Amino acid sequence: MKFCIDHADLDAIRRIYEYYPVDGVSTNPSILAKTGRDPYQVLKEIREIIGEDGELFVQAVSPEAEGMVREARRIVRELGDRTLVKIPATPEGFKAMKMLKKEGIRFIGTAIYTAMQGFLAAKCGADYVAPYINRIDNMGFDGVQVAKDIHDAIKASNYDSGLLAASFKNSQQVLELTKYGVKAVTVAPDVIDGLVKNAAIDSAIDQFTKDFEGLVGPGKTMESL
Ligand code: G3P
Repeated sequence: MKFCIDHADLDAIRRIYEYYPVDGVSTNPSILAKTGRDPYQVLKEIREIIGEDGELFVQAVSPEAEGMVREARRIVRELGDRTLVKIPATPEGFKAMKMLKKEGIRFIGTAIYTAMQGFLAAKCGADYVAPYINRIDNMGFDGVQVAKDIHDAIKASNYDSGLLAASFKNSQQVLELTKYGVKAVTVAPDVIDGLVKNAAIDSAIDQFTKDFEGLVGPGKTMESL
């Protein structure tokens, strides 16, 4: 499963890239707006951090298909081939996806709240489809189940697509989809940190250090003995 960062803060991206096994960075217009900076400048700086191999996800905002396609060409020209254009899974979006498929520009279906939205984006040739887990939960439905249904529908039709599940607010949502074998998840830095934040872990490591220092002396390590 690929594991991406859903954020545009450069310091946060650098920190998560340093410590965790990460495959890319996803953004959306709201995430970029939080930076208060020129979107292409921010995205180019993210590209520098993640390198040529990292996958970068950037959303088109035009209301009509032709505009989305023009945006997609510019996004890939500015940010490289490993950049996937996020296209909303709407009728105009599906039209744009079919055009992008013909041009060989990689894209992902986004703003997905229903299983059939995800299925249709996959059928249009999306590399990924992005259900919004927590937002679906907040509407009174089961975001993880919607994501599993999309995963199953894609597999049943043997499409070359998969989930980039997004909008996580807790570890359990991420775990459920990790266990299910989805193609990718994209998670905000605070939720990533929460995946491994646990008082029991800290306490176990403190005890190991105390016991070892009791044996060989303060500050000693297996290297310094
Ligand atoms: O791009 C989709 C995803 O980032 C939405 O996340 O946290 O705004 O629900 P959130």
